[in-house]
Amino acid sequence: MQASSIDVERLETLIEINTLINSNYTDDKALLTHILESASRLTHGESSSLLLLNHETNRLYFEISLGPKGPDVQKFSLKMGEGIAGWVAKHNTGLIVNDVDKDGRHQKSIDSKTGYATSSILAAPMRIKDRCVGVIEIINRQDRRNFTNDDLMWLERFAVQAALAIQNAKSYSKLRNELFILQDRLNEDKGYHPFVSGSKIIDEKLKLVDKIAATDSSVLILGESGAGKELFAEQIHLRSKRSDGPFIRVNCAALPEHLLESELFGHVKGAFTDATADRRGRFELANGGTIFLDEIGDMPYKLQSKLLRVLQHMVFERVGASEPTTVNVRVLAATNKDIESAIEEGRFRKDLYYRLNVLPFYIPPLRERVEDIPVLADFFLEKFNRELKRSIHGFSNEALESLMSYSWPGNVRELENVIERSAVICDDEFIRPQHLLLVSSLNENNEYDNKKLKEALNTFKKHFIRKALESNSWNQTETSAKLGIQRTYLSRLIKELDIKT
Ligand SMILES: Nc1ncnc2c1ncn2[C@@H]1O[C@H](COP(=O)(O)OP(=O)(O)O)[C@@H](O)[C@H]1O
Ligand SMILES: [Mg+2]
Repeated sequence: MQASSIDVERLETLIEINTLINSNYTDDKALLTHILESASRLTHGESSSLLLLNHETNRLYFEISLGPKGPDVQKFSLKMGEGIAGWVAKHNTGLIVNDVDKDGRHQKSIDSKTGYATSSILAAPMRIKDRCVGVIEIINRQDRRNFTNDDLMWLERFAVQAALAIQNAKSYSKLRNELFILQDRLNEDKGYHPFVSGSKIIDEKLKLVDKIAATDSSVLILGESGAGKELFAEQIHLRSKRSDGPFIRVNCAALPEHLLESELFGHVKGAFTDATADRRGRFELANGGTIFLDEIGDMPYKLQSKLLRVLQHMVFERVGASEPTTVNVRVLAATNKDIESAIEEGRFRKDLYYRLNVLPFYIPPLRERVEDIPVLADFFLEKFNRELKRSIHGFSNEALESLMSYSWPGNVRELENVIERSAVICDDEFIRPQHLLLVSSLNENNEYDNKKLKEALNTFKKHFIRKALESNSWNQTETSAKLGIQRTYLSRLIKELDIKT
């Protein structure tokens, strides 16, 4: 074979695929797309498809299709033996068809449905240990010339490498998933919740969690009720080097002042009437691990100074004790209240706020990350199928649409309750809108319930500005002109109110 420039390029592409084989790709689609792009480039194809054989159904599914009609093609599948790709899979051998009109094997129905004109096809089997696992199909040479035997030979070699890369990625992600499932089970046994996500926003937040987990600073977790503050606190602990230590939860709003003090810091015998013995508090129980102070905004003012001292020096006294107790605890706190106005009103200590707020961590409400809704809904349905011994298959399209368009004032907790209730009353294979019993979106005003004027105004501003941005394609100059404010002020508001696309 003559070493022409095209051969050099082809060699390079093969080498590139070889490195992919050894990479830890977990995103199947990205890997397949990468492979198919290389194959198209290698053979100068105008369009291309990568089909995978499902051994159970014995059908070939268009996993990735590139070219002008790519997205349409991906809806189809072929029986074994059907069409050129089916023929290639069945005979486990490559094929060149330079005039599809003269070849009875070509499936014309796909072309007629997508409106694409196929004239020539080059196809090669992807093999693992000689067994066909899929087909790469290249359609129409860009220069309109015929595909050559040389093209086919390259594609065949390439397809073998691609098959290996796919297999490797599959076993890697299978192992990784199994590992995660095992880890989740272990964690559930210890009282932690499985954490589910489907949105970019939450994935980004989890990356931030990894960074935060590597430090020992206190974190103030902010977000609406039911948004997942406690679950994020768990994640921070589980991803930190304290993960083998205890994770102790305290709800600061649940107890009156004197009980909360003894709950947090313990007491000595005789400290008060009911103190019949020495008792360790939550801070001592959390030694070597993490304490999670939920609803910190409701902590009584007097206790706040005691907490501040713990944060600064890791020292406190049990109620009634004169000797100090020293601990090593990481503090995570959460609130759905506007702490800054609590400070203005003198209900929350500024110094404590600064100390806690070393790393502020905000969790957006569910309505701002709708991609999480189907994933969470499936997760909860599976859970309640198990708990209620039901076998509901899933959600109807209409039900899913209602879930996605609802405003979820109670966030994930509300979604969980809605799914539980639907699973109980569902009398069908699928959950349908009538099973969801969603309060109409008119109730969106719930967002303003129990809010201080300032918070409610901020919520309103946020919605109002987002709407304006949306109707101006997120162009800040145009939006600020429409709103009659300075561009710089708009961009400051966007930051302050955490408005995101
Ligand atoms: N990412 C998530 N994955 C799975 N379940 C979640 C997630 N976020 C929230 N939940 C569910 O919603 C409930 C409320 O979450 P939680 O962390 O207690 O909210 P918050 O502390 O903000 O009020 C949890 O008990 C959990 O069942
Ligand atoms: Mg909570």
